[in-house]
Amino acid sequence: MNRKLHVAVAGATGAVGIEMIKTLEKRHFPISNLTLLASARSTGKKLKYNGSEIPVKELTKSVFAGIDIALFSAGSSISKQFAPIAAQEGCVVIDNSSAFRMDEKVPLVIPEINAMDVKKHNGIIANPNCTTAVTLMALYPLHQAFHVKRIFAASYQAVSGTGAKAIEELSRQIRESLNGGHITKEVYPHQIAFNVLPHVDSFLDNGYTKEEMKMQNEGRKIMHHPTFRASVTCVRVPVYRAHSVAVNAEFERPVTVASAREVLLKAPGLQVIDDPAKNEYPQPLYQAEQYDCAVGRIRQDCALENGLAFWVSGDQLLKGAALNAVQIAEELVK
Ligand SMILES: NC(=O)c1ccc[n+]([C@@H]2O[C@H](COP(=O)([O-])OP(=O)(O)OC[C@H]3O[C@@H](n4cnc5c(N)ncnc54)[C@H](OP(=O)(O)O)[C@@H]3O)[C@@H](O)[C@H]2O)c1
Repeated sequence: MNRKLHVAVAGATGAVGIEMIKTLEKRHFPISNLTLLASARSTGKKLKYNGSEIPVKELTKSVFAGIDIALFSAGSSISKQFAPIAAQEGCVVIDNSSAFRMDEKVPLVIPEINAMDVKKHNGIIANPNCTTAVTLMALYPLHQAFHVKRIFAASYQAVSGTGAKAIEELSRQIRESLNGGHITKEVYPHQIAFNVLPHVDSFLDNGYTKEEMKMQNEGRKIMHHPTFRASVTCVRVPVYRAHSVAVNAEFERPVTVASAREVLLKAPGLQVIDDPAKNEYPQPLYQAEQYDCAVGRIRQDCALENGLAFWVSGDQLLKGAALNAVQIAEELVK
């Protein structure tokens, strides 16, 4: 494909959709026509792209004729309903939801790791879970060098990971709390302002949440590493944007801080911010709106064989969603 393309964003008014539009513009994706889709609630709303205002249309079965690439971020049920229809119309769908990630016929791609899998698509390509994406940006280069066996991890996930309504919920609860008023809850089961919730996504029979199991399941598929194991606790924190993950990784081969650092310094899409003497380490506040993820607090794990502990932060709306989706689209047009 070396012509300009008709691109659609489904879920254009959402937290991820807005970032998709900005990322397409910033990275000069070759677009002839941009169609913005959302629910009937948003019909007529206008969103900015490249200096013009584009009206949002309702997502229906008939909108995909003539569209080359559709970036979906309108939730799992919408993807299940509309992505196959779009693919049948000849459009390539890059889907941000969990709907197709574990489907054997659907590649699950982080371009820095398995860009070659894009070629195997049958009309749908899946974007990974945001916490998994941020973690693998640091873990995969280490895996290539030292072969990871398993990780133990805890996430610190921003409210924007839940969408636009959760961003409003944090702001509202901060105001309500500071005014000494009643705290209203619409998105999370408990107050998120001035609190942390060890609960992201729904609980499974094994006691983990769905979000927690994505690290192992999606990690295996993306890294082509079927025996990779991950025990994760996912935690929602009152941060607006960018997820962080504390990782303890055990490798097959011996690893030192110096050899790990050498590998991480060369990794694409990753900054090393790691100078404890100067209080320098990755922080979500400063990773927000950055394309690169950042790794720091790199140290020899004192409880694991061939173990390394590290901390990684990354903007989950970008590397965990919009940027990764646009990078996949860029692979398609290469
Ligand atoms: N937020 C993240 O960091 C992140 C990261 C990775 C993946 N994802 C995934 O991306 C998807 C969207 O997440 P988000 O955070 O952007 O959520 P969000 O802010 O709640 O936005 C949801 C979007 O979906 C649209 N939508 C809802 N119901 C629809 C319907 N019936 N028909 C058409 N469009 C509909 C909404 O349109 P209206 O405005 O018209 O309601 C809105 O544009 C989810 O599958 C999520 O799991 C999110």
